[in-house]
Amino acid sequence: MSAPNKSYDPVEVEALKPEEIERMRDEALAAFAAAGDLDELAHAKTAHTGGTSPLALANREIGALPPQAKAEAGKRVGQARGAVNKAFAERLAQLEAERDERVLVEEAVDVTLPYDRVPAGARHPLTTLMDRIADIFTAMGYEVAEGPEVEAEWFNFDALNFTPDHPARQMQDTFFVRGPEGVEGDESGVVLRTHTSPVQARALLERREPPVYIVCPGRVYRTDELDATHTPVFHQVELLAVDEGLTMADLKGTIDHMVKSLFGDDVTTRLRPNFFPFTEPSAEMDMQCYVCRGASVGNPDRPCRTCSSEGWIELGGCGMVNPKVLTACGVDPEKYSGFAFGFGIERMLMFRHNVEDMRDMVEGDVRFTRPFGMEI
Ligand code: DAH
Repeated sequence: MSAPNKSYDPVEVEALKPEEIERMRDEALAAFAAAGDLDELAHAKTAHTGGTSPLALANREIGALPPQAKAEAGKRVGQARGAVNKAFAERLAQLEAERDERVLVEEAVDVTLPYDRVPAGARHPLTTLMDRIADIFTAMGYEVAEGPEVEAEWFNFDALNFTPDHPARQMQDTFFVRGPEGVEGDESGVVLRTHTSPVQARALLERREPPVYIVCPGRVYRTDELDATHTPVFHQVELLAVDEGLTMADLKGTIDHMVKSLFGDDVTTRLRPNFFPFTEPSAEMDMQCYVCRGASVGNPDRPCRTCSSEGWIELGGCGMVNPKVLTACGVDPEKYSGFAFGFGIERMLMFRHNVEDMRDMVEGDVRFTRPFGMEI
């Protein structure tokens, strides 16, 4: 290490001359002021405050000065560097503020623009409603059962005690895929199922021994023209319970439970006598109008659109499984009894959600489906 240079003349050190230091400082300040963005400022910073910048090099020279000159040169360089650092910090703050302001403008989001050009779809309300109904029964231990939509005429009609001359078997009501005469030796034709009831026969034949508790949501077909209240393809939910000792009271209680789950705890139900070949006795099941609760009946001042001021809404058919059906499906009617019901989902969607035209349900327009997309 060399000894301090006592005979050193500070005037001779070019880089430490006051005007030199001032020039270096001014150049740095000018460079910072000229930097138009943060990148340029970063470059200017390296050039004017970095390890090889003129001021840093000058600073290094101080060490070689004689002691009396050191303090003065140190002060000068220190002041210049301080001014440079301060100018840098100021310009940095300025450029950052400008950038932030620009980003706010350039990246502003117009929240009034449509959020998506491809609108999201939604579950069809028929599917949601069928799932909801199936859930009510699976919670009680029922199983969800399915059957084919292209069904043997035998399951759709014969097993369910429809006589050969029953009007429903005629071409004007039922879509026949193949008539009974189609294949020699095969007595049964093939139809598009007209109801979900054939799943009753299938479930009984598949299980052999009761207890059988099934719920069957599904698509069914009838030769109706599409209009506001008819559609050739629609949906039903079928219920079947076969066990020892089941009575009509169990049927009534089950219908009550379903209706209360769907429409509220204080909505009551009633049964009216009816006829179905596969149930005996048979009934029509009605629920009290959940909107007017009967207050519209005979009261023209308070008409009700939901029940047409009838006070009751027709749900569908039900009854005790006809012993002939049990026998046809290999179940002993002496030992077992059963109840069943079936009803249309489109109709329920219409009165539950004030859908006035069935065609809206089949057209697949997302504008119809979307409002049902979220259930509360
Ligand atoms: N399958 C009948 C129909 O489509 C409805 C029905 C009536 C189903 C009585 C049943 C029942 O399970 O017991 O009109």
